[in-house]
Amino acid sequence: MTENVIALLKSSFNDLFNEQPEFYYFSPGRINLIGEHLDYNGGHVFPAAISFGTYAAVSITDHPIFNFYSLNFKEEPIHSIPNEDLIFDKKHSWTNYAKGVIKYIEEQTNTTLPKGLNICVYGNIQNGAGLSSSASLELLIGYIINDIFSLNLSQLDLIKIGQRVENEFIGLNSGIMDQFAIGMGKESHAILLNCNDLSYEYAPLHLKNYSLVIINSNKRRELSDSKYNERRAECELALQKLQTKLNIQHLCDLDVNTYEQNKNLITDINAQKRAKHVVYENTRTLEALNALQNNDLTVFGKLMNDSHISLKEDYDVTGKELDTIFESAIELDYVLGSRMTGAGFGGCAIALVQSDKIKDFKNHVHAQYMKVIGYEPEFYEVNISDGPKKLKEYR
Ligand code: GLA
Repeated sequence: MTENVIALLKSSFNDLFNEQPEFYYFSPGRINLIGEHLDYNGGHVFPAAISFGTYAAVSITDHPIFNFYSLNFKEEPIHSIPNEDLIFDKKHSWTNYAKGVIKYIEEQTNTTLPKGLNICVYGNIQNGAGLSSSASLELLIGYIINDIFSLNLSQLDLIKIGQRVENEFIGLNSGIMDQFAIGMGKESHAILLNCNDLSYEYAPLHLKNYSLVIINSNKRRELSDSKYNERRAECELALQKLQTKLNIQHLCDLDVNTYEQNKNLITDINAQKRAKHVVYENTRTLEALNALQNNDLTVFGKLMNDSHISLKEDYDVTGKELDTIFESAIELDYVLGSRMTGAGFGGCAIALVQSDKIKDFKNHVHAQYMKVIGYEPEFYEVNISDGPKKLKEYR
C-alpha cells in the first residue's frame, strides 16, 4: 500500500511543482472502540489510530507561501496561500484545516515561518467517512511544520492545536478524542483516555482469532452541517439542570446511581436521554477496558452492542444505514459485537469478526445492506497503527 501511494505522490508532485519531493510523511485516521460522545462530557473514550490515513510529499520553498494540492480533490487547483493570508476562506476548501494549523502554530511559538512549502497530499480514508480525515490532516500538517522548522512543539501541543482549529477556525465544537487518538497512536494498542484530565493508558489489542472490520455506510457525514453541535447543547442543558442540586463539572462526574436518583431534574426529555447515554456509556467504556485486559472478548463484544443500542435509542445519532449494518452484523454467531464509530449520522461502523469468517461476513452484510438501503457499503481491514511519522525510508 505505502509503496504505491509514494509512487503516486512522487510522480504527481513532479508534474505539479516541477521538482522532486524532499520528504514524505504519514498521519493515521482513527476508530473508536467504545466511549462515544463522551470526550466533550469529561468522560473516558477508547480509540485507536489505524493504518489508513493521509500521506504527504513535501518540499521547502524560498518564499513564505504554502502551495497545497490534494490528489483527493483533483478538480481543485493548487491553492497558493501566502503566510500573511492564513484566514478561513470557504473557497480554499480542505486547505482551511492546514491554514488553521499553521496560523495557530505561529501564534503559539511566536514565530513567522521563514520559508514556505509545496505540499501534495493523498488520503486513503474517504473524507466524510467518520474516520477523522480532518484530524488526520491537522496532525499531519502540524507534524510536518514542527519537523521541518524544528519548533520543538510536543505531541500534546499539536493535538490541542488540531482541536482549536476545529473549534475556532472551522466552527465545529468537537472534543479532543480524534486528535488525541491520532497524535498518540501506538501500533497494536488502543488508548484509554480520560478526557477530563487527559491522563491515558495504552491497552494491547489482543484479539486472538478475531479481527476488527470497518464497514463504511457510504452515507456521508457532514459534521459541521450535522446535529453534532445540537447534541453538545443538549448535554450542556442536562448538566445545568443537574447542577441546580449537584456539585458536578461534567455529566461524566455522575455514576449510574446518582444519575438515576436525580434524572428528573432534567425536565427536557431529549436532554434526559442524552445524559443517560453519556453516564451509562462512561461505565461501559471502563468495563470494556477491563474485559480487554481479562482477555474476555465476549464481554467486550456485548458492551459494543450495548453502546450502539444506546446511541440509537438515547443519543439518536445512528440512522437507518448504521442500524442496518449493526443488525445484520450481530445476527451472525461468528460476530462478537458491532457498533457505529465516531460521531454517527452516517460514516462507519466496526465489528469484531472471527478472522476466518471475514469473507462470509462481508457477503452477508453487503447483501442485507443492498436489500434495505439500496447501495453498496465498503469494508476495510486495517491494522492499529502508530501516530504521525516521517517516512524516512523514502526520499
Ligand atoms: C467526532 C468528534 C469527536 C467525538 C466523536 C464522538 O468524531 O470529532 O470529538 O465527539 O465525534 O464520540
